[in-house]
Amino acid sequence: MEIKVFKNYQEMSEGVAKLIINQVINNPQSTLGLATGSTPIGLYQQLIKDHVENGTSYKNVRTFNLDEYIGLSKDHNQSYFYFMKEQLFNHIDISLDNVFIPDGGTHDVEAECDAYNQKLSQSPIDIQILGIGTNGHIGFNEPGTPFDSVTQKVELVEGTRKDNARFFDSMDEVPTHAISMGIKNILDANVVILLASGKNKADAIKTMVEAKPHVDCPASALQNHPHVIVYVDEEAASKLSK
Ligand code: GLP
Repeated sequence: MEIKVFKNYQEMSEGVAKLIINQVINNPQSTLGLATGSTPIGLYQQLIKDHVENGTSYKNVRTFNLDEYIGLSKDHNQSYFYFMKEQLFNHIDISLDNVFIPDGGTHDVEAECDAYNQKLSQSPIDIQILGIGTNGHIGFNEPGTPFDSVTQKVELVEGTRKDNARFFDSMDEVPTHAISMGIKNILDANVVILLASGKNKADAIKTMVEAKPHVDCPASALQNHPHVIVYVDEEAASKLSK
């Protein structure tokens, strides 16, 4: 695992944006794995800025998102599909035909998961962007998820629902389940970039990097991947031993 420590969130976001922009320029048909949460927003803003100023094109780029809440349709303003449109897709020239996000509004969750796994197997991810939960989750793979899991229905733990409640009007509205790409799908990506910012991520980052890989910290599975780069600000890196 390579660890890159940046002074602050802005510099971290600019650093990772450079890498993604280079990837898209070098291979305009790239497949990117994308994440939601507040952490990648700065990255998406940099991609939009570069698209507007330098014309980097996403016309032939495909994207796969990690996860989606079950019970929220695509047009629900808290769905991850809506988030991605607002934060990125509406502001670049990507075709929505090339955008893949599990459909949380489906009546057949199992079929949706199978179809997502199928699509992922046909379109290997060049670079997967990840955030991390305060409990070490990646995507919505909570502690205890086997490292060989693939896209499936998952139950959100109380802490994750509380962490994400800030985006909803009340705790009752936070969904209890999601569809999440599994840890194996994430490990199948060619390159994995994990982003973390702020003191509240420092424990999760330390465990991910320094503890023996264990299902208690889903992100520690990344230690088994040959090409992971962790982009952190000084606060998120503050508990690392060296
Ligand atoms: C959610 C998402 C994760 C994300 C995490 C952290 O649980 N499913 O993919 O990494 O939030 O979010 P934030 O970046 O807002 O701290």
